[in-house]
Amino acid sequence: MKMFSKFVAAAALALAQSAAADPAGCDAGETVLKFSLVTSLNGHPKGEAALAYAEAINAEMDGRYCMEVYGSSELYADGPELFDAMNRGEVHFAAPSMSKLGDFTKGFLLFDIPFIFDGPLHVLEFLDTEAARDLLLEIEDDGLVGLGFWSNGMRHLSATVPMRLPGDAEGLTFRVQSSSPVTLMAMDIMGITAKKLAFSKVYDALASGEVQGQQNTWSNIQSKGFYLEQAAVTETNHTYLGYVVMASKVFFDGIPASDRQVFIDTMKLVTHERNRFAFEINQARRQDILDDEGIIIRLAPQEVQAWRDAFAPILTAFRDEIGANLIDAAIRSNAQTDPYN
Ligand code: LMR
Repeated sequence: MKMFSKFVAAAALALAQSAAADPAGCDAGETVLKFSLVTSLNGHPKGEAALAYAEAINAEMDGRYCMEVYGSSELYADGPELFDAMNRGEVHFAAPSMSKLGDFTKGFLLFDIPFIFDGPLHVLEFLDTEAARDLLLEIEDDGLVGLGFWSNGMRHLSATVPMRLPGDAEGLTFRVQSSSPVTLMAMDIMGITAKKLAFSKVYDALASGEVQGQQNTWSNIQSKGFYLEQAAVTETNHTYLGYVVMASKVFFDGIPASDRQVFIDTMKLVTHERNRFAFEINQARRQDILDDEGIIIRLAPQEVQAWRDAFAPILTAFRDEIGANLIDAAIRSNAQTDPYN
């Protein structure tokens, strides 16, 4: 199994590198499309998915459209300025974290509930349900067209103190990516002050001591060096980080229906292809942290249970606000067998 995972990860990275090696190189007469990301491109689940999408679109629609992918917040942070730029039709595609979309629709808060999903594959099961797909429609009133869900992986916690139990970092300040009330309740349970910061600001905030901890996936923690400023990363797997891939509605509504269909069909293919690799890529980035002598704390089953117990009131508190149907559909996805476990 270990050898297999390594092989898959290597194949995934090779694929991404070949995509990255082909910059868009737009020709005269082509409509240039901007895809804005905050994360790294190579070796990152979202970056690689965006590169693969651009490569497929640029091959399929050669001479008509030319997609350029911008990583590491080069264009925008995934916040109001991005959505404004998409509403103006200046940025055409983006894939912000679902946690950023709780302001648009409460349903997305579901993904911030700790331990609602047993693992990343269960989330993929859930994302394939009608209940999840309906969430994509709800951003349309905000001038955004939801095209699909891309996976990153499970989040882990890190701090300037090693953490084994929920109270171990009490009194510290942690960076959070949104003001999701679900996340704020989780931080409160841990006795932590939450500070909302853009992804591009996290490393400096950790290095300067402005915040002393954070939560993210292996690919984000490794690619942006967060682990370098922390005593340890605790492998909590407590929440899922995934993305809504979206197009600017003003752009999308303005192109021929046959072109829209190509963007939609290509998204389906790329999503199916890339989401399968997200887990392996994160495991490869986890190994990179270990190879760089970063400390990863693995929890014993009774410690995991202590985290689950501490966070259990969150689900009860938000059940009505998020919607019992959605929550039940999410929990049902845990009944599927997860080959990664
Ligand atoms: C974060 O802000 O931590 C993440 O949303 C970044 C990302 O897009 O993975």
